[in-house]
Formats: sequence, structure tokens, C-alpha cells
Amino acid sequence: MALIPGSLPAARYIRPMDATAIAHPNIALVKYWGKRNRPLNLPAVPSVSVTLAPFETRTTVTWGSQADAFRINGETALGDAARRVGAFLDLVDPNRPPVAIESTNNFPTAAGLASSSSAFAALALAAATAAGHDRSLADLSILARQGSGSASRSLWGGFVTWSLGQSPDGRDSHGHPIADQTHWDLRVLVALVSDAKKAISSRAGMNRTQETSPLFDGWVQSGPSDVREAEKAILNRDLERLGTVMEHSTMKMVATMFSAQPAVMYMNPATVAVLHAVQDLRRRGVPAWSTMDAGPNVKVLTTPDAAPAVEAALREHVSTVHSLTVGGPARVV
Ligand code: PMV
Repeated sequence: MALIPGSLPAARYIRPMDATAIAHPNIALVKYWGKRNRPLNLPAVPSVSVTLAPFETRTTVTWGSQADAFRINGETALGDAARRVGAFLDLVDPNRPPVAIESTNNFPTAAGLASSSSAFAALALAAATAAGHDRSLADLSILARQGSGSASRSLWGGFVTWSLGQSPDGRDSHGHPIADQTHWDLRVLVALVSDAKKAISSRAGMNRTQETSPLFDGWVQSGPSDVREAEKAILNRDLERLGTVMEHSTMKMVATMFSAQPAVMYMNPATVAVLHAVQDLRRRGVPAWSTMDAGPNVKVLTTPDAAPAVEAALREHVSTVHSLTVGGPARVV
């Protein structure tokens, strides 16, 4: 039997091995939206993110259990979710034994709070460790990317660029750290407009946008310069510059969603009210910039000093505001 490099037959796993990993979610400061290769999750645009704490996913993988069994937040994953996880484990090792997974988030899942980013980063790290593989962070990022694109950015703490890459097999499309979590003390306030599961997955929304929006080409062309601008702003700790490019990237992404057919609409009226509140804050001299992802919640980038004023303004529109700091790297515990 020909062996795929880096893998061994299941018989090698003589006894069950387990490992637990923790990863934080990240939010994009310059957005990923659209793919140049769907199965490999190769992006149409490069992106930049900040890793967030204390939100986290904690995942234990037992490599060599009785049967595949995947539990997410205490519930057994079935159907598509289970198939997606099973296919992901096959990437770790095509000759893998049955695997048991127990994964929990300490924040709402699949509600536009980037839970898939921490989920697949934690799973990649825990699964590779349980399987006894010694993989570089770039390799783990490539693996995590195939579970969920944004997960490629959650192996590192702080600020990360996910490169577009050029290789057809995606080997050069992974995260690159820009600066670690000690570089810049920022706050990200999450105005929780809704914690319901989103109606359209980011995967489906992205594909529909790419197939039908006449604005998609402009989005792709303007992505790389936004990434360069954000990287400079991060290295110079220039919040106005970073906030400005983040809002611009966000609104361009939303424009492609709205111009899809049928429109991909994650916002609701409270989302728009919060966006206006952030603009009002800026008019009053408070440093605050907003972003959104595939959901109705608004994340607001600000300084530790301004965070209380921003939080008070957000609470006029939503009852829950999470205050997040810049998080550290994914780690085995
Ligand atoms: O990684 P996915 O498939 O959940 O897509 C993430 C898409 C956005 O959150 C909207 C943008 C991003 O770069 O994270």
C-alpha cells in the first residue's frame, strides 16, 4: 500500500491518544469574502485580523476511540456538521482511526462572532497533537483554513495577515503574524444585536455574492491595498488609520452582499442604529470604528480609555455588550 507522506496506517495508533487545545476567535480588520478555490478555501482576497480574548474554544480530541463521536457545546454533531468535521480529520490523516471530539465555546456559536475561526484552529492543533504530528504553525494554519477560512488566522495571538498565496495547492496561503498581543492594547466591544444562529452561513453567503454581485470584481481588486494600509497602521499603532480602513473594507464587503441576487442581508434595524451611534461617537471626538461579519452584531474598535464611553453609547441600543481584549496564540493545555 502506498503511504501518503506524513501519514501512517491506523494500526500505528496503538492506544487512544488525546490532546486538548484552546484557540481564541479573531475578527477581520480587513475582510475575507470570496474564494478562488472552494474545496481548499483559498481566498479571493488577503485579509488581516486581530485575535480576541477572553472568548475561546476548548477542544479535546481522542485519536483512536470506539467510533467517530463529535460533541459541540454538549450536543452531538449530526448531518452536515459531522461530515464537515469528519472530512477535516481525514485531512489530518487519511488513514485515521475513529476519533472522539469534545468542543465547547464560552461565547455564542455561529452567530457572527467568529466561532468557526476558533473552532477549526483549536481542532487543527488538538487533532495534530493527538495524532502525534509535529507541525509548524504555518502548516496548522493551512490545515485550519480548510475547515474555515478565518481559522487560518487564529493560530497566532495579536495581529495576523492571511496571505492570498499563488500556489494552486494553497501551500502559501496561510497566516503570518504581524505583531503579537503585547504590541497594542486595544478594545473590541461587541454590540450583541442577536445571538441567534445566522440564516445564511458565511460559506453560502460568500458563494452567492461571488456568483451574482456585479461589485465583486472591484472588491477583489481593492483588497490587497487595504491589507497594506492595515499592516502599516498596526505597526505604527495608528488607530484612526486602522479604524478607517477597517470600516472601508467592511462597507465594501457589505455592498457586495447587498448587491448579490437575492441579496445576502445579515443586518437588522438595530445593526444600523449601532453603526450610526459609532459615527456619532466619532463626531464627538471619541475614537471608535465599527465592523461586521456574517451576522447582525457590530464590533467596535476603540482604546481602553474610550471603552467606557463607547460601551455606554452601545447600551442605548443593545442590552449585551462584550468587552474583548487582544488575545494570545492557540495553545495545547
Ligand atoms: O471563515 P468563514 O467561512 O467563517 O468566513 C468568514 C467571513 C467573515 O467573517 C465575514 C470575514 C472574515 O474575514 O472573517
